[in-house]
Amino acid sequence: MAEVPGSIGEVEEMLARQDYICGRALATVVFLSLRLGRPLFMEGEAGTGKTEIAKALAAGLGRRLIRLQCYEGLDASSAVYEWNFPAQMIAMRAAEASGGAASREALVAEMFSEAYLIERPLLEAMRPGPGGAPVLLIDEIDRTDEPFEAFLLEALGDFQVTVPELGTIRAEEPPIVVLTSNRTREVHDALKRRCLYHWVDYPDVERELAILAARVPEAQARLSQEVVAFVQRLRDADLFKRPGVAETIDWARCLLALDAVALSPEVIADTLGAVLKYQDDIARMQGSEAARILAEARAEIA
Ligand SMILES: Nc1ncnc2c1ncn2[C@@H]1O[C@H](COP(=O)(O)OP(=O)(O)O)[C@@H](O)[C@H]1O
Ligand SMILES: [Mg+2]
Repeated sequence: MAEVPGSIGEVEEMLARQDYICGRALATVVFLSLRLGRPLFMEGEAGTGKTEIAKALAAGLGRRLIRLQCYEGLDASSAVYEWNFPAQMIAMRAAEASGGAASREALVAEMFSEAYLIERPLLEAMRPGPGGAPVLLIDEIDRTDEPFEAFLLEALGDFQVTVPELGTIRAEEPPIVVLTSNRTREVHDALKRRCLYHWVDYPDVERELAILAARVPEAQARLSQEVVAFVQRLRDADLFKRPGVAETIDWARCLLALDAVALSPEVIADTLGAVLKYQDDIARMQGSEAARILAEARAEIA
């Protein structure tokens, strides 16, 4: 098996090299998940860095990242494999035209061989990669339904998938599995129980500043501090959708693009769409409310 970090501190450092800033608690579950070979289940609000951690982990470990993006109506078979129907048709026509002597059985066996198999994420993840087993990201599992969960539970249980025409394909080395959920619904206990669970919360001021420093290094300290203090206050406000870390980063980039060196009520009004994505939330934060929050944020920094 390829090298994995030997301590929680090493996990933190490895992720930091990928510009992913994680707290001790997250580094601990990542470490344990690698050490024990258990899937990592991360739940939290949108934009808190759940998807990104799988990317950082794959890059840090030098593994392939295989992503299964979940959606409503995703069914088990299309998550595993598909037959390359057009290629099968062409090959059949060619066989017919040449009037070859191949028996019907031989032809069918040929058509349903690996040459015509299109691997989808769950099957791909069973294949070894150059640096070792890949990282399998099963993203936004809450978007699928219970039958799919049940199927996943089985696939993750023994790390094997079955293609009826080919038989069972088993991972020599199990993939490193990361599941995420934005918690639009509760994921079933049975699936959670198989995993190590971590709730990904919004970062505190200090960590969010570190994230900005890593992701938007061009931003001056003053601008970053004001942006973070402002966004942190927005998260306590009565909003329909609270801004995530992704929004903080976007906002800082927008402000830089406008050459802003500090926040002002005007510049906030012009750029609020980078932070808030619902008109009601934006309307609530326009004008005097933004000025009030900015004053509070400044007082806190000073
Ligand atoms: N701890 C972190 N360190 C560095 N960047 C982060 C962190 N958390 C979030 N981000 C940034 O926020 C963006 C959105 O994160 P993402 O993983 O897509 O959120 P989620 O999957 O939770 O909705 C990422 O592209 C990344 O740039
Ligand atoms: Mg995500």
